Amino acid sequence: MAERVTINEVGLRDGLQNQPRHVDTDHKVQLLNALLAAGIRHVEATSFVSPKAVPQMADAADLMTRLPDRSHIDYSVLVPNVKGYERAKEAGAHSVAVALSCTETMNRRNINMGLAQAEAVCAEVMRLAAADGLIGRAYLSVAFFCPFEGQIAREVVTWLAAAMFDAGAREVIVADTIGSADPMHVRDVFDDLTRRYDANLLSGHFHDTKGLALANSYAAFSAGIRKFDSSIGGLGGCPFAPGAAGNAATEDLVNMFESAGCATGIDLEKLPAAVAVAEQCTGKALGGRWLNWRRTQQAKQAVRAVGSN
Ligand code: COA
Ligand code: ZN
Repeated sequence: MAERVTINEVGLRDGLQNQPRHVDTDHKVQLLNALLAAGIRHVEATSFVSPKAVPQMADAADLMTRLPDRSHIDYSVLVPNVKGYERAKEAGAHSVAVALSCTETMNRRNINMGLAQAEAVCAEVMRLAAADGLIGRAYLSVAFFCPFEGQIAREVVTWLAAAMFDAGAREVIVADTIGSADPMHVRDVFDDLTRRYDANLLSGHFHDTKGLALANSYAAFSAGIRKFDSSIGGLGGCPFAPGAAGNAATEDLVNMFESAGCATGIDLEKLPAAVAVAEQCTGKALGGRWLNWRRTQQAKQAVRAVGSN
């Protein structure tokens, strides 16, 4: 039987949070519908952060009332603190993710707390989620390289993962927020983690700044990881982490894993329609390598068709 790989679509959160053009709730719902039509079943829909810090996410509560097919889709939301958690719970979230950066400076830039306070607050959110029967997930952001403090020691990642699991996290997502990791480093970090934790409790989140998001995802896969974040069309980037380019493109990850004989449950041929909606939303040309290849193939076919007329 084909190995299953779970793709968690983060385009609506990581992808849109940094876009200069405002994307309204109607367009977000349209994008969700296109993603769901392609078979996507895991979505990070929004974040309950300060609307002053991230204006694109100001409609979080409104979007929650309009999520399509809520009973079948695993929707998660990002929360930066207890206030965000309370807002998300009030809005009916079933799954919440905290963003704990691996350095002092990145936490200060992102959520205005030092590392110790950020760890305590994220642990508190994980405890609250467990007590309330919600799924708690924890991002370890800048887990490989921090734009302010450089390379991250592996021990820091294992120590913060332990803190989150001890507090009740059901999943830890190891994030290369600025796309600076390389496959050997990724393999080492995940080997360390999978010696301690079931690989099914871990997930990989890679950005494509240096063109290594796919290679890094595959390195994590080879360490036993079977769940990955990605953004449709390669949207993405953290507004508080200089140099963060787009996430791994969903269509590229699906193409890679399906080509490798894995089952993602996603229909690759239906993803271009979702990319087109994301392009309408953002006013930007989007698309990963697979989509560019496909567009070239289609253009060649069109030329051949004209030639044979
Ligand atoms: N949602 C909405 N508003 C929030 C909030 C939340 N989760 N947390 C705090 N606020 C509000 C407070 O009520 C307060 O409002 P007021 O000025 O009207 O009184 C204001 O924000 C400041 O509160 P404070 O607790 O001092 O927050 P802060 O200014 O230290 O900012 C965060 C901390 C975490 C709220 C802010 O840095 C943030 O939202 N960061 C998001 C980062 C992000 O999304 N990064 C990308 C993804 S990793
Ligand atoms: Zn990211």
